[in-house]
Amino acid sequence: MTEHPSKKVFIFLNTDKHASPFDILKLIDIFPEAQILKYENITVEDAEKIVYDSMFPRGPKGAKHTKIFIGGSNFETINKILEKAKKCMFPPFELAVIVDPNGAYTTASAAVAKTLEISLKKKLGNLEGKNVTILAGTGPVGKTAATLYAMEKAKVTLTSRNSERAAAVAAAVNKKFKTEIVKGLKAETREEIGNAIKNAEIILSTGAAGVQLLPLKILEEYGERCRIVADVNAIPPLGVEGLDVNADGSELLPNIFGIGALTIGTLKNKVEKELFRKAAKASKGIFDYKIAYKIAKSLVKPETEWWTPTIPNP
Ligand SMILES: NC(=O)c1ccc[n+]([C@@H]2O[C@H](COP(=O)([O-])OP(=O)(O)OC[C@H]3O[C@@H](n4cnc5c(N)ncnc54)[C@H](OP(=O)(O)O)[C@@H]3O)[C@@H](O)[C@H]2O)c1
Repeated sequence: MTEHPSKKVFIFLNTDKHASPFDILKLIDIFPEAQILKYENITVEDAEKIVYDSMFPRGPKGAKHTKIFIGGSNFETINKILEKAKKCMFPPFELAVIVDPNGAYTTASAAVAKTLEISLKKKLGNLEGKNVTILAGTGPVGKTAATLYAMEKAKVTLTSRNSERAAAVAAAVNKKFKTEIVKGLKAETREEIGNAIKNAEIILSTGAAGVQLLPLKILEEYGERCRIVADVNAIPPLGVEGLDVNADGSELLPNIFGIGALTIGTLKNKVEKELFRKAAKASKGIFDYKIAYKIAKSLVKPETEWWTPTIPNP
């Protein structure tokens, strides 16, 4: 019987009861010949066993063509699974690992890269030192966006309806980068939201689907320093009132340029495809938010001579 150790196999380790078909369908479209195995409701202990059992049966050659995809909605468990998977592997049995918790890494990468692109296109400079407010930044997309902005050395204000939650996310990102660049703020009332955006040059809204976070009147009243506003929520009501989902740098208010959720979603899809392709090609490596953001930056590369495609390491 012929063996096929070069056939691509993607092993999904998902923390949810049912793995979303989103990434699975995407993979099938890109690699119709690939085999996909999925394991749901995964704990860190389960993941350890599955990773070990994925490393050896196809030999070193097959290991190069066996990929792990860690996903789901439990951000903390996903990070622990990744750490466990890294510890399990050793040469020549190292598998390439893709990580994208419910699309959060690719979505945040697309959102942050779009704000950078529009900033450069409007001659506002890069992200370093910029005041950025992430509204409802306590979910997976917001946390990842805070990490990416911190990587770019932007000054981040991250909001939540609960001050402890906001502070905890800010502290986690600050700890990672050994800085105080991110601060958490409660923002629920009109005045609190106003206070959270009053210094922002860039606002990114990362709230739950179908939740409006920024009424236009508040942006008009408090957003005098704001030049870019972006939203990842494509489900009405949108996160930012009046921001066309297809906006790609058009003015929402005089001198405030908007980036809509579908514009970000379109880039997110391209980033995800490229992330899959890179991981499929590689014999090993971790394909997480850092690679996703690098891809997103390369895809939005504006025509400017001082564009640097490299990203700082955390
Ligand atoms: N285009 C894509 O492919 C794509 C992929 C993934 C996600 N998304 C979108 O990205 C957005 C963020 O995703 P996510 O998974 O990070 O979101 P999430 O975890 O569902 O929500 C983010 C935050 O929204 C806040 N929130 C929830 N309900 C609220 C309410 N009723 N009023 C005010 N704030 C509320 C919560 O913060 P606090 O409780 O701390 O206030 C929560 O942590 C969503 O709109 C999602 O649809 C798009």
